Amino acid sequence: MSIDLESLTLIQLTPAHETACRDFMQEFLAAGETHYGWLNEYLEFRSFREFLDFIDTCARGKYKPEIYVPQTTFFLSEPQGRLLGITRLRHHLNPSLEIEGGHIGYAVRPSARRQGCATRQLSLMLERARAIGLARVLVTCDDDNTGSARTIEKNGGVLEDLRLSPESGKWVKRYWIALE
Ligand SMILES: CC(C)(COP(=O)(O)OP(=O)(O)OC[C@H]1O[C@@H](n2cnc3c(N)ncnc32)[C@H](O)[C@@H]1OP(=O)(O)O)[C@@H](O)C(=O)NCCC(=O)NCCS
Repeated sequence: MSIDLESLTLIQLTPAHETACRDFMQEFLAAGETHYGWLNEYLEFRSFREFLDFIDTCARGKYKPEIYVPQTTFFLSEPQGRLLGITRLRHHLNPSLEIEGGHIGYAVRPSARRQGCATRQLSLMLERARAIGLARVLVTCDDDNTGSARTIEKNGGVLEDLRLSPESGKWVKRYWIALE
């Protein structure tokens, strides 16, 4: 069944989303996409409640503040409750995020890809970024991640440069999106 992009919204998890969230995470595991930080964090916790607490701690900037800036986690949701994407808004940059990571990170569940979800999700996140007072956001992707680069470009991203990631050794495209 096709996805009605206009009906999708960003939500923050509550205990009521446990089943939907487990279903969402399971799809990444089944696809062997286990390299995402947020998936590992999810797997680390024994209970969903602990995962929710972790998300809240991150949003308040209390999780390893010497390394991580405050970041709010949202999920892209269908009206019926199926979760299609995960995305994080970092409230400001640090030297590491300036090179790679930027203000907004995201992923779409494998079965929902190539249908416009990432484009819609990022456009909704730009509203959230504006709401916390950002005038422009940095969004980055690996040089070979065509889908992510197109998602950024379709949301008005202007390529500033490419930098070499100290983490992966790969070239990273750095785009700015103006919000005003
Ligand atoms: C990258 C990702 C978020 C794209 O999600 P998506 O929902 O498939 O993206 P959309 O459907 O909105 O597509 C956006 C554009 O990218 C293109 N695109 C998407 N995936 C693509 C791919 N694998 N190869 C080439 N182009 C691709 C689409 O065709 C579309 O461009 P168009 O309108 O010019 O045709 C998704 O593949 C994903 O979650 N990947 C793993 C996590 C990841 O890489 N996150 C980004 C880290 S920077």
